[in-house]
Amino acid sequence: MLLYIHIPFCDSKCYYCAFNSYVDKFQLKVAYMKALEEQMKHDIDLYLKDTDKKIETVFIGGGTPSCVEASLYENIFKIIKPYLKENIEITTEANPNSATKEWQEQMFAHGVNRISFGVQSFNDKKLKSLGRAHKAKSAILAIQNAKCIGFNGINCDLIYGVKGDTFESIKEDLEVIRNLPITHLSAYSLIIEEGTKFYKKSYMKIDDEELSYAIFDHIKTLGLVQYEISNFAINDESRSSHNFGYWEHKEYLGVGTGAVGYVNKERLYPLKDIEEYIKTPLFKDVEKLSEDDIKVEKVLLGLRSIVGVDLSLFTKEERKRAEFLVSENKISQKNEKIYSNNYLLCDEIALYILN
Ligand SMILES: C[S@@+](CC[C@H](N)C(=O)[O-])C[C@H]1O[C@@H](n2cnc3c(N)ncnc32)[C@H](O)[C@@H]1O
Ligand code: SF4
Repeated sequence: MLLYIHIPFCDSKCYYCAFNSYVDKFQLKVAYMKALEEQMKHDIDLYLKDTDKKIETVFIGGGTPSCVEASLYENIFKIIKPYLKENIEITTEANPNSATKEWQEQMFAHGVNRISFGVQSFNDKKLKSLGRAHKAKSAILAIQNAKCIGFNGINCDLIYGVKGDTFESIKEDLEVIRNLPITHLSAYSLIIEEGTKFYKKSYMKIDDEELSYAIFDHIKTLGLVQYEISNFAINDESRSSHNFGYWEHKEYLGVGTGAVGYVNKERLYPLKDIEEYIKTPLFKDVEKLSEDDIKVEKVLLGLRSIVGVDLSLFTKEERKRAEFLVSENKISQKNEKIYSNNYLLCDEIALYILN
């Protein structure tokens, strides 16, 4: 079982971001963390206690986990401790501005061993155009601090495909990374999301496949190996086990406002509004997934990553189409599984096979 914990606070709202987060509800922090504890205890009792299931990875995401004082996480770690497998990956996301050295040290002392920074770019002009509050200098310092403290894994999120991006400009970002002690890179192509400042400025996104290929190629020269459409790691051990678990369709608990869970073939949705969540942290909307829903998800997620897809999932006709794509060298087959040859085509390939 994977565990995702959602922290819905941010210091400011980035122009592209549709994540569930608030910039004006900091007065609710303590009450929110109490509500999280309540949901966590309840979900653990319901899904883990008296079973042989254990927590395999923890991911604290947001929003911005570094907006919440490290001391406010103490009870959460106490609650989950008896249910953790040994030596597991515990990740926190962090914003370069609020992830001070002290905050990082305290989270490390709680047992967090992997940290993921929302960097987006090392170009201050681009950061400003994305509505980011931090500067390149603070991102570099935050990453260096993480290395000094001894985090096992250090990830850096970048965004590309923003108006003004060229291969040269992204290369400059990647060259900064070359000299930083990161173990993992998430490079996301900008998505224009409804409800964001960019929604009415669709020109902020540039769709340029050639740029994506050139970026992937350059990332290779940094010694980072692509294992999913947006994710790259310096070696197998440095991959995000948590995200890998999602792609393998493992079960997960989602704790916090709007943090989706998936257990016993049911998708579980807590309340999205923070005030409502604090009042009723145990509420869940339950969506039963059909075998067909699960199959489609497995195909989409498997082709987006090195996880691949078991041929046994397919009907005779689907299998024929998959085999045709193998013969055309569009995908690969190894034993009884198929794999993407080109992640940028994975959705089209999935649609073609499932027809
Ligand atoms: C929860 S945030 C990371 C932590 C922290 N909130 C921060 O931004 O510093 C997760 C990541 O998702 C990516 N992201 C969010 N919205 C996106 C969008 N519309 N298009 C592409 N990437 C996006 C960003 O790279 C961001 O760092
Ligand atoms: S990208 Fe990160 S800091 Fe910016 S609004 Fe989204 S969650 Fe908050």
